[in-house]
Amino acid sequence: MNRVFIKTYGCQMNERDSEAVAALLRDKGYSIVPEEVNADVILLNTCSVREQAEQKAIGKAGHLSARKRRNPNLIVGIMGCMAQNKGDTLVDKLPDLDLVIGTQKFHRVPDHLDNVIASLNGLGPKPATIIDIAEEKGSQNTIKSHVEDNANVAAFVSIMQGCNMKCSYCIVPKTRGSERARPMNEIVDEIKALVAKGTKEVTLLGQIVNQYAVREFPFVDKKSPFVQLLEKVNAIEGLERIRFTSPHPVGFRDDLIECYTRLPKLCEYLHFPMQSGSNKILKAMRRPYSIERFKMIIDKIRALRPDIYISTDIIVGFPGETETDFEATRTAFEALKFDMAYVFKYSVRPGTTAEPEGDPISKETKEKRNQILLDILRHTSLERNQSLIGTAQEVLIEGPAKRGNGIFVGRTRGYRKVIVPASERLVGQLVSVKINEVTASTLTGDLIIAD
Ligand code: 5AD
Ligand code: SF4
Repeated sequence: MNRVFIKTYGCQMNERDSEAVAALLRDKGYSIVPEEVNADVILLNTCSVREQAEQKAIGKAGHLSARKRRNPNLIVGIMGCMAQNKGDTLVDKLPDLDLVIGTQKFHRVPDHLDNVIASLNGLGPKPATIIDIAEEKGSQNTIKSHVEDNANVAAFVSIMQGCNMKCSYCIVPKTRGSERARPMNEIVDEIKALVAKGTKEVTLLGQIVNQYAVREFPFVDKKSPFVQLLEKVNAIEGLERIRFTSPHPVGFRDDLIECYTRLPKLCEYLHFPMQSGSNKILKAMRRPYSIERFKMIIDKIRALRPDIYISTDIIVGFPGETETDFEATRTAFEALKFDMAYVFKYSVRPGTTAEPEGDPISKETKEKRNQILLDILRHTSLERNQSLIGTAQEVLIEGPAKRGNGIFVGRTRGYRKVIVPASERLVGQLVSVKINEVTASTLTGDLIIAD
């Protein structure tokens, strides 16, 4: 009864939450299995950011409920954003669910699971679905356990939870609650412990990382708490690389920009959501910056670090986005030469301030705009990758590639994926790779062996 499979939908925050749940379950004697076929317990960690993500998880949960009717011992739970968003109405649709666990209750999963199993073993009353979705003070401090295996060469570390912004399209403030920071020393201790077990790279995670602890910690020498945290993490011996995601243009000041020259471990990579290139749409989205300011921040960073790689998020088809507005997005997108981008078609989310506007832009228009941006991206990204052919790149080897056969995957400091023939003992090592071939998304090369 103790084999658990966790399926994760959505963002890196969700990946991290799933990993923390897995670590807590392992500590309690459960085993985490990589496939659902042999699992006794299946947990879906869900995403609500777009309707399609919710539909996918509901579809999956429906299949699992049907399986449960054939095998009543199978335990099925829904965790995370959709559990938080839909709460007990999920049970109206899926009465067979055993668990519905919200975003502030991940750490309670092991105890709840123990109870479900005890009742299945006849040791307790047959419980109705356990629904645990309340807010919990201090819950941001519970996402700290890590599974110990070599997947941890590059680890995610949650530094805060929630978001106080009110972007008009976004359901995250509802599913994740208001901003709560973890204490700086606990984050640093967590990273030190990871490094002691072989982690070489950390990505600091939060909804708006540059807002980290602005209410809890003072600015020191005009440095924000986030910059102070970066300095502390940079000082950790044995750690090689730092990334963070996601920052917001508001509060992206010079103290943070300068980190790209001052802090050697901070990789020359930035994920920086633009959302739109039209000031009218940015305003309607309640994103409190102009496209001019957004560009200015990028110009400043590139002046200091011309080699930086920048990725972004864009939403196409927000209500009211005319051809002229999209043209502004297209122009800015082209001019800024993003190395990577996630382009999303607008999806109405319940309870957001944009909900009453409906979804007036047709599917076809959204698809067309999406394709236009992706075409630009393919071109810029390929061009940048081609410029790397023949160069030596520092690569952190993360593990074997899916295709196996002595082929490994790693990443450059610019977050480019690299495929390279290597050996198991190089996992977790920084190596030098000569780039031979590239696509828009991947680099392929050979190890440079120092003589
Ligand atoms: N529709 C489409 N995309 C959305 N995002 C957030 N909410 C929505 C929505 N309702 C996108 C934003 C955000 C990313 C994580 O998801 O671009 O940065
Ligand atoms: Fe959502 Fe905006 Fe907060 Fe990001 S900053 S999580 S897009 S509300």
